Amino acid sequence: MEKELLFEAKKLSKHFGPTIALDEVDFKVYRGQITGLIGENGSGKSTITSIAAGMQPATSGEMFFKGQAHKPSTMIEGAKAGIGMIVQEQGTVSGISVAQNIFLGEEGRFKRAGLISKRKMNAEARKVLDNIRFYDVNPAAPIDSLNMQDRKLVEIAKVMYGNPEMLVVDETTTALSQAGREIIYDIMRRMRDDNKAVVFISHDLEELIEICDTLTVLRDGKLITTLNKDEMNEDVIKRHMVGREMSEHYYREDYGEKISDEVVLKAESITTGTGMLMDFSMELHKGEILGIGGLSHCGMHELGRALFGEEKILEGKVTDVKTGDKITSPRCALLHGYGYVSKNRDTEALVLTASIKDNILAAGYDKVQKGPFLLPKDAKNYVNKQKDALSIKCASINQDVQYLSGGNKQKVVFGKWVGRDCDILILDCPTRGVDIGVKAAMYDLIDKMRKEGKSIVMISEELTELIGMSDRLLILKDGSLAGEFMRSKELSENDIINVMI
Ligand SMILES: Nc1ncnc2c1ncn2[C@@H]1O[C@H](COP(=O)(O)OP(=O)(O)O)[C@@H](O)[C@H]1O
Ligand SMILES: [Mg+2]
Repeated sequence: MEKELLFEAKKLSKHFGPTIALDEVDFKVYRGQITGLIGENGSGKSTITSIAAGMQPATSGEMFFKGQAHKPSTMIEGAKAGIGMIVQEQGTVSGISVAQNIFLGEEGRFKRAGLISKRKMNAEARKVLDNIRFYDVNPAAPIDSLNMQDRKLVEIAKVMYGNPEMLVVDETTTALSQAGREIIYDIMRRMRDDNKAVVFISHDLEELIEICDTLTVLRDGKLITTLNKDEMNEDVIKRHMVGREMSEHYYREDYGEKISDEVVLKAESITTGTGMLMDFSMELHKGEILGIGGLSHCGMHELGRALFGEEKILEGKVTDVKTGDKITSPRCALLHGYGYVSKNRDTEALVLTASIKDNILAAGYDKVQKGPFLLPKDAKNYVNKQKDALSIKCASINQDVQYLSGGNKQKVVFGKWVGRDCDILILDCPTRGVDIGVKAAMYDLIDKMRKEGKSIVMISEELTELIGMSDRLLILKDGSLAGEFMRSKELSENDIINVMI
């Protein structure tokens, strides 16, 4: 059966100053299908869908929806036309209830004699939430009492309340647990069965292959190809995404190298102020990659912060072995040659309103400076070296960091510390949210640092990465050590999961 075209973009382009986010893209969405959209960070996925939804205008090109010219100038207009979008960022409003979030701007519906009937509004909200099968939330509850996932689900309910004919889901599933994902999958499949359409953006190849009917690949703002179900294969997709064969050597490949006996950093019986770590001890050896893993509340992120002097320690101590000094603050850690890549890259690691150059330079002044002088040429070379090593995608190193895509922001954080040439580097989820090409580059850099004799703590939520990169692996559970594994070809995810839960 011929599928009916619902949305079409013709030669759609979007420029942000010198950045070409979309380059004459022709993109089609059919009824009765879930259309997947994939591409490396910064390839233009959010840009094309947000233009369709009316969040921002295109620079040039045309769009058609249900056969009509489509040029929404606000999201409200986009929604009226029939396009709903679940955005990548948090979309609920603080300080009001779940029901008020769902009916924001439509309170008039519940007015009786000039007063808004909360009872009616809550009852209607219940129906809207039931419709997406999100049962265990109270419509009257303050939105701020909900966790991230539940807030996301409220947002989805709100979008679905607009009864869209085309639904855009922009990297929503990453933030959700399996239960939350099932709710979204269910909505998407029902949309398809009702002969409506879904555009589904995700980084999870397995998920895309399972859910989507077709998959469109973007690269550098260009549409590369659209694959049918029978053409979807992880290797093929990756190749289209990065535009070259992915090397087999994704992680390091050596086994059986002996770890040095020399200890460079140790934590002795530390108990943190948050109580996340209790009487915890560990040692980091020279030239090793020490992996740290566990479930979300195991204390691994607090450990990273504690090693860098960022976490309040009630008892015990963290010691820099070479000097015998106690590490008591980030400044102290810096002076001892430590680097730290934080998990919360926006809030902790970057100055968003400063340029890429200034952010990368911030950690490296002492490396670039010649005596009291900082030569502009040296500064530029230093920053450009990091930019190229990590292929940070930007129009200029003078561009503000805030406008970079998530993965490119992470590269800047990484470049900041790697460039500094630290002896001890603490990485908290360094590859979170970055795409495979960049991941491979980061793994290479981490391994290069190891070979240079640097010591690296790599905290991660990805078991394959921990297994692939670590010389030694510590698994935490409820703030204590649950297991220790040495690097081995035989080490499997199952071995680790067994001690983790
Ligand atoms: N508001 C903006 N200002 C400047 N550049 C932007 C803006 N929004 C996106 N970009 C740039 O456009 C490109 C595409 O971004 P985006 O569509 O968010 O990528 P994706 O969603 O595929 O990760 C990136 O290089 C990004 O830095
Ligand atoms: Mg995006």
